[in-house]
Amino acid sequence: MSNNQEAMTFAEKLRLDPRLSQAKQLILDAVAEYQQHLVNVRPANPEREPAYQQMLEAFGEIRGGSLYFPYLASGLGNGPFVELADGSVKLDMITGIGVHGYGHSHPRMVEAGIEAALSDTVMQGNLQQGPESFELVKLLTEKANESGGGLNHCFLSTSGAMANENSLKIAFQKNQPANRVVAFSHCFAGRTLALSQVTDKPGNRVGLPDTITVDYIPFYRPDDPAGSTELAVNRFREQIKRHPGKIAALWMELVQGEGGYYPGSPDFFRALCSVARENQIAVIADEVQTFGRTSRLYAFQHFELDQQVDLVTIGKISQVCATLYTDDYKPKPGLISQTFTGSSWAIIAAQAIIQGLIDGGHYGSEGRNQQLHACFQAGLERISERLPGAVSGPYGIGGMVAFTPFDGELERSKEMVNRLYHAGLMSFIAGSDPVRIRFLMPLGSVEEGHIELACQIIEQVAEEMSSES
Ligand SMILES: Cc1ncc(COP(=O)(O)O)c(C=O)c1O
Repeated sequence: MSNNQEAMTFAEKLRLDPRLSQAKQLILDAVAEYQQHLVNVRPANPEREPAYQQMLEAFGEIRGGSLYFPYLASGLGNGPFVELADGSVKLDMITGIGVHGYGHSHPRMVEAGIEAALSDTVMQGNLQQGPESFELVKLLTEKANESGGGLNHCFLSTSGAMANENSLKIAFQKNQPANRVVAFSHCFAGRTLALSQVTDKPGNRVGLPDTITVDYIPFYRPDDPAGSTELAVNRFREQIKRHPGKIAALWMELVQGEGGYYPGSPDFFRALCSVARENQIAVIADEVQTFGRTSRLYAFQHFELDQQVDLVTIGKISQVCATLYTDDYKPKPGLISQTFTGSSWAIIAAQAIIQGLIDGGHYGSEGRNQQLHACFQAGLERISERLPGAVSGPYGIGGMVAFTPFDGELERSKEMVNRLYHAGLMSFIAGSDPVRIRFLMPLGSVEEGHIELACQIIEQVAEEMSSES
């Protein structure tokens, strides 16, 4: 940006036009006026229900399968509350599996959208990027290197899977001819042809050809920190011995997300990273779900792995996904490129979310993420004391919270998620044996009162289900 009138671009002059700030204020005021009515959960309006049902059925038909939740947004929300097209209001504690960091219709996101509408293109990509993309990669790399490390490079992409694919390609290229990956049992990495091999869920790769070869090592167990670390390190060494020079990357999901909200520990990860380092194996941290949700912006910082990671991927709450990597892992030209890196709104919103969470005191050992976790944990513990057979745990870390419903059996857990939904609370399942019910709160807009409301709904549903069994 130039402050010299003469040198200013017309775009800079447009941004300073007082009509824009007036228009922006008008829009924000109008949104605020309507969203003030969305402050509690509410059932559907019976008058709207028939058309809503028809729309859902037609959508499912065209899509080739019904939606997981009978959810179609009206287009307005108020932080953690979202209005649906049937007139109901839900308390959204799953946020599209961790995407909507400020919830729904938050002024910060509306403003980002207005800024984006003023951008000259809807999408930005490798051939034509705007200053917002530059600002975002600068912010992501600066924050990644805040407490050491050397993640000097950042490549944007449109999905967590694409960010992960890029990280794998970079690791394979650097460490060729090594062509195998070591990952944790029960990890989730995405659903592309390559990543469905890394993801430890056989059901997700039914009918697919084998693409890359993955060896699994066991994850951390909090009930046996030393023993589980030793076991994982031994297994890792065994794989290295069995396939000398063939392992390109150690794939680490630092908190198992889809696997059921199991965090690892700094010592556990460090022990494995030092084996990787000794053997020239790339350390990749998949932070697609954890980014922004622990006591630090990056979970690798929370687990004090600044010096250990070679590649880090982020997604979900960051809107735009990204692969960060060190100088040593700079790919050769042509290896990674895409038409889109994201929409202008996603890129501007990414910055607004990340900066907003930082400025809003979300990080640090006493930060807002930790406070929100403690509040949810206390609420779930209270329910668990009163209804021990129905709710156990809680589990998770920071902005990732989970409990085990009943005995963690799949059908009963799904039933509870559905009943919570119909009572007004959005959650989702994670893991297997036991299945857990998880929450990914809209960190930027959720308050203690919303968590209390969530807990009231959980208690009411748990009580109903207990009394029926
Ligand atoms: C740890 C992890 N990696 C990768 C992915 C894939 O991200 P996406 O669905 O954006 O492709 C996910 C999605 O849930 C995830 O949790």
